[in-house]
Amino acid sequence: MLRLRNFLILTLFHYANAQVDYTKFVNPLIGSEGPIPGYAFGGGDIFVGAAVPFGVAKVGIDTYEDNITIATLNGGYTPEGKVTAISMMHESGTGGYPKYGIIPQMPLTTVAPPVNLLDNQTYWQARVSYDVARVGYFKMQLESGVTVELSGARHSGIMQYSFPSGEKHVLVDVSHYLPSETGGYSNQYYIGGEIHLQADGTYTGYGTYGGGWNEGAPMTVYFCGDFETPPDQMQTFHGRNADPVPRYHTFSDAGIPQAILGNMSEYAGPLNDRVGALFTWTNPSTTHIRSRVGISFISSDKACNFKNTEIPSYNLNTTVTAAVEEWNQDVFSKIQVSTDSSVNQTNLALLYSSLYFMHLMPSDRTGENPLWQSAEPYWDDFYTLWDIFRNTVSLYHLIQPAYYETMIRSLIDIWRFEGFMPDGRSGNYNGLVQGGSNADNVLADAYVKGLRGAINWTAGYEAMKKDAEVQPYNTYSYDDPTATVKEGRGALYDWIPLGYVSADRSTRAVSRTVEYALNDFALSQVARGEAPGDVQKYLNRSANWQNIWAHNVTSLNFTGFLAPRLADGTFNLSDYNPALCGGCEWQAISYEATPFEYSFVVPHDAQTLIQFMGGPIAFESRLDYIMLPNTSQQNLGANGADITTIMNIGNEPDFATPYLYNYLNKQLKSVEQSRALANQYFHVANYGVPGNSDAGALNSWLIWQMMGIYPVVTQTVYLVGSPWFEDMNITVNGDQTLRITASMPGASNDSSTGASFGQENFYVQSLKINGADWNRNWFDHEDVMVKGGTIEFELGPQMKLWESGQIPPSPGHL
Ligand SMILES: *[C@@H]1O[C@H](CO)[C@@H](O)[C@H](O)[C@H]1NC(C)=O
Ligand SMILES: *[C@@H]1O[C@H](CO)[C@@H](O)[C@H](O)[C@H]1NC(C)=O
Ligand SMILES: *[C@@H]1O[C@H](CO)[C@@H](O)[C@H](O)[C@H]1NC(C)=O
Ligand SMILES: *[C@@H]1O[C@H](CO)[C@@H](O)[C@H](O)[C@H]1NC(C)=O
Ligand SMILES: *[C@@H]1O[C@H](CO)[C@@H](O)[C@H](O)[C@H]1NC(C)=O
Ligand SMILES: *[C@@H]1O[C@H](CO)[C@@H](O)[C@H](O)[C@H]1NC(C)=O
Ligand SMILES: *[C@@H]1O[C@H](CO)[C@@H](O)[C@H](O)[C@H]1NC(C)=O
Ligand SMILES: *[C@@H]1O[C@H](CO)[C@@H](O)[C@H](O)[C@H]1NC(C)=O
Ligand SMILES: *[C@@H]1O[C@H](CO)[C@@H](O)[C@H](O)[C@H]1NC(C)=O
Ligand SMILES: *[C@@H]1O[C@H](CO)[C@@H](O)[C@H](O)[C@H]1NC(C)=O
Ligand SMILES: *[C@@H]1O[C@H](CO)[C@@H](O)[C@H](O)[C@H]1NC(C)=O
Ligand SMILES: *[C@@H]1O[C@H](CO)[C@@H](O)[C@H](O)[C@H]1NC(C)=O
Repeated sequence: MLRLRNFLILTLFHYANAQVDYTKFVNPLIGSEGPIPGYAFGGGDIFVGAAVPFGVAKVGIDTYEDNITIATLNGGYTPEGKVTAISMMHESGTGGYPKYGIIPQMPLTTVAPPVNLLDNQTYWQARVSYDVARVGYFKMQLESGVTVELSGARHSGIMQYSFPSGEKHVLVDVSHYLPSETGGYSNQYYIGGEIHLQADGTYTGYGTYGGGWNEGAPMTVYFCGDFETPPDQMQTFHGRNADPVPRYHTFSDAGIPQAILGNMSEYAGPLNDRVGALFTWTNPSTTHIRSRVGISFISSDKACNFKNTEIPSYNLNTTVTAAVEEWNQDVFSKIQVSTDSSVNQTNLALLYSSLYFMHLMPSDRTGENPLWQSAEPYWDDFYTLWDIFRNTVSLYHLIQPAYYETMIRSLIDIWRFEGFMPDGRSGNYNGLVQGGSNADNVLADAYVKGLRGAINWTAGYEAMKKDAEVQPYNTYSYDDPTATVKEGRGALYDWIPLGYVSADRSTRAVSRTVEYALNDFALSQVARGEAPGDVQKYLNRSANWQNIWAHNVTSLNFTGFLAPRLADGTFNLSDYNPALCGGCEWQAISYEATPFEYSFVVPHDAQTLIQFMGGPIAFESRLDYIMLPNTSQQNLGANGADITTIMNIGNEPDFATPYLYNYLNKQLKSVEQSRALANQYFHVANYGVPGNSDAGALNSWLIWQMMGIYPVVTQTVYLVGSPWFEDMNITVNGDQTLRITASMPGASNDSSTGASFGQENFYVQSLKINGADWNRNWFDHEDVMVKGGTIEFELGPQMKLWESGQIPPSPGHL
């Protein structure tokens, strides 16, 4: 009974919220291009296509880019690449080697030689007009004359092909996957599959694929497709697999063979043959071919069921409308701002597009876990927690608490059945780990803010303790054979006895030391409730970053930096420049950012950090300096988004850095710096984010910026910035409302000065929280996020030192 009542209330509530169609503000192409026009390289690496929030299916195109040295296929989509298929599964925002791009279809207008069904280069297609991308909808025109429109549901997709007169075929190549154009160790590979045809053109089967960026074990995806108009002819085919796959049978060095046509069923067999099917329509009156495809990790029956129940109609609009409704109800209406024409339309587009991109991953695979039986929810595509722990999950906590609770239950269940929580995970496989075991930070952030529900926190803490205490076995990754990069903390053999990650026995010594310290702080936070006897131990360990602080290293007139320390206790400062990190990769002294940047990344103990850098004045001038143009010494290549500052907003480790002025009670500078970064690097344009969006991490940074607050990860603290809208109603904690308003006294009466809301008048003059004057530049989760509340800003054009209260806390201060 209770359940039913709740359901009714929620339905009414949603209905009221869903009046505005926010999807018209979403531009799904933001991030689709990088600095080189026409190329994805250096851009957001985003998925473009049709998906529902956290959906399993992300239906979009796979492409090939001609200049392979700068080809970046990660999201499948590239602005001008040749289309090799429309496929059902994609990642969004990732770097490294591609993953997925599987369970495809491809419309063809000829299959005569030189077309070879096993050779994508003989049939791939350029696009001849601008793509159309909207929430739940994508359209493109191929040079063959075929127009493709598509939409998607949770585990299924629908494609509509409008053929010109002439031949009409749809190819299903089960062996298709999204490759790395330069090949190599982490390329994906096809292992085998089956396909079976029914008389009406329904096809079922599975494909098995391994590899990809996370060095994943093989995974099997079942499929079930059909056509509104049964094909007039259909044939299966198979052919020798000639892809170079280590430890699998392939037919080597003989080029791509011809497909051998068969009848109604194909099996890959022991030689890992490629299999597929070709469907043909000969009736000239059939011009529109519509097809539905379902996918499942469990069985083709389930895939058929998803297709039939999620996409009951061949009318594409039905699926588009359902997707639009779901996005509006479950995502966009959670942050409501006025959409009047008087509101800056660019900012509306930035807000709702950013919300869109941060809800494409991870994927809710509840009911679709092929690995073990469990009543717990199941999620995949944490790609990666080291990117999204910094502020994305904190936003899930506010606006998606139900989804977020199941994500955490799933992380814990992965530990229970596989031994470790992931840091990255996709294709049902943990990997990789860039620095620390950052699921710890995610759990702590949720725990301290009171997320409970059905989460077993006893188990959650056990899982964290495993990360903190058990050295995982080495998987000898090609990226870094010295210790595991699959899960857990690969350098515990240093961390526990030495109290730091050493630079001679371990790789990434600086960045891993910093991350392990925060991970241990995360343990201490959860231990407060779950294992009070452990608090001091992990708090002590959270201060270990201090062990690699070299107080006498000077760079650019600043003294005191994180530095490489050897296992014997001495620092190795020969030729050491903290503004450089070599390749900033697996085997460097720090990953993704320079030691100069990591020297600011101690969110649990800003107090010691400020002291180590020489006090508030020195700290402030160092912060000022790293935001100045032309200070970066590290060559970031095209991925650097023309960033010439040491501080790099395209890199997650730096996300909180522009807000650190709050720890000096100089919030005005946090506002100035963070707003300047947002204005400089985030645009409503295809090249609209500074580098890989990292599963929406860059996008969620921008949303916090626009809300005028920033979360301090693993703590209940939010730092105060300055909002971009006059009025925002944010649905927090399921059904409570946080209202953030901003007034600008004077400006509205005086349009002659040109003063308008937001653009130059964003400095905080005063603040009220829940109606009371507020003199601190931070507040606590309890204040407004549990029962809702109000934050009222008064903004103006003048920089004003308005705060006089206590600075934000340093709970890890030792
Ligand atoms: C084209 O197909 C070949 C053979 O399967 C494969 O090795 C290659 O990666 C594919 N290329 C693209 C861009 O899909
Ligand atoms: C490929 O791109 C690289 C980097 O932009 C450029 O130097 C090179 O000339 C390009 N090659 C071709 C064939 O266009
Ligand atoms: C298709 O099946 C029929 C009947 O079993 C058989 O005679 C024919 O040879 C098969 N064709 C191919 C190409 O395998
Ligand atoms: C689908 O929706 C579009 C836009 O709402 C409309 O123009 C079109 O006629 C619809 N098509 C069908 C088949 O309902
Ligand atoms: C926010 O909610 C308040 C109270 O319901 C309402 O008066 C106001 O119009 C809302 N603002 C927006 C932008 O929706
Ligand atoms: C809208 O905001 C953008 C920054 O997001 C700014 O560049 C633009 O000038 C603003 N437009 C107006 C009309 O104020
Ligand atoms: C919670 O997890 C702990 C530790 O794994 C386990 O002993 C306990 O049975 C679990 N509790 C429930 C209610 O499942
Ligand atoms: C010390 O650092 C230098 C410069 O990076 C390096 O060449 C040398 O091998 C390091 N020494 C030890 C003992 O690790
Ligand atoms: C924490 O560190 C302090 C100071 O070094 C030490 O006295 C204490 O024993 C440590 N506590 C634990 C539990 O390790
Ligand atoms: C810097 O400090 C380290 C450790 O405190 C010491 O080993 C080293 O000799 C010092 N170097 C200089 C140049 O003072
Ligand atoms: C360091 O300080 C000296 C003396 O104040 C000054 O001449 C020099 O330009 C400064 N160097 C940098 C990199 O700021
Ligand atoms: C940074 O360097 C570029 C290229 O040398 C130069 O054009 C620009 O003026 C410099 N900017 C500043 C603020 O010094």
